[in-house]
Amino acid sequence: MASDSKSRILLVALAVCAVCAVLVSVAAVGLKPRQEVNQRMDKLRNILDAGGLLSPGVDVADTYNRSVRAGFVRLSDGSWLEKPDVPGGVTPEAFDFQRLAMRAGTGRALAPAEDPSGLKRIPRFMPVFVVEDDAEKPVRLILPVVGKGLWSTLYGFLAMDPDLRTIRRLIFYDHGETPGLGGEIDNPRWQEKWDGKLAFGEDGRIRIAVLHGSVQADDPLARHHVDGISGATKTTQGVQSMVRFWLGGNGYGPFLSHAAKEGLHVTR
Ligand SMILES: Cc1cc2nc3c(=O)[nH]c(=O)nc-3n(C[C@H](O)[C@H](O)[C@H](O)COP(=O)(O)O)c2cc1C
Repeated sequence: MASDSKSRILLVALAVCAVCAVLVSVAAVGLKPRQEVNQRMDKLRNILDAGGLLSPGVDVADTYNRSVRAGFVRLSDGSWLEKPDVPGGVTPEAFDFQRLAMRAGTGRALAPAEDPSGLKRIPRFMPVFVVEDDAEKPVRLILPVVGKGLWSTLYGFLAMDPDLRTIRRLIFYDHGETPGLGGEIDNPRWQEKWDGKLAFGEDGRIRIAVLHGSVQADDPLARHHVDGISGATKTTQGVQSMVRFWLGGNGYGPFLSHAAKEGLHVTR
């Protein structure tokens, strides 16, 4: 075969493709365990952040193990669920929202009227995380929240005081909104605006809302209102729907009522 013949060129190209395919596959398979460990650590880091426990140089795994209690709650009645019935098992830290929502036994469909966040299906149970102080007193409740933004599904954590009314933090660990527009939900300056906002009114109704614009000084509901983000109205509307959904009757509402009576001690 001549060195510049068509079949020779084709053969070399195929050989290069085959070698590259093998290299990529080996790298993907070989790095998967490390990726899973990194994903888990990232989740723990975000839980610590939501819990007010993240500081530079902190030992993430150690702080998580010392200060955070995690358990599962049944969304239908808000009771603790000691061992979810999932083939292969599940832990609060490795909870896969979409997988559990899609399976018939572990998820359920939402009717359009009860689905302001566009999720279509949700799991029947969710993990919750409670930060405890050195005396094992609950100091913060962290609820995983999921909802649709403009382009993508937003995954985050909503952290509240033990009064189960005061929001301390809302952060996102995964979304695909546009950087500089919807992506500004990750901006610490916007996240700070949630600190101290009241999720519920005196009557127990959900009052938290994200405005289109800024909260005015004379707004009588200022404690319930959060500034919008200009150029990201659709995303922030999604955030509002998401937070309100998860605080409501199809989300953690029954659990919050249960916790108000029984306290926040995790049963696992
Ligand atoms: C390329 C592109 C990306 C956009 N990304 C977002 C986004 O991530 N979130 C969002 O709410 N709006 C996004 N928008 C803007 C919306 O389409 C819409 O114009 C905007 O929500 C209007 O909100 P405003 O009243 O805050 O300007 C994007 C627009 C363009 C052209």
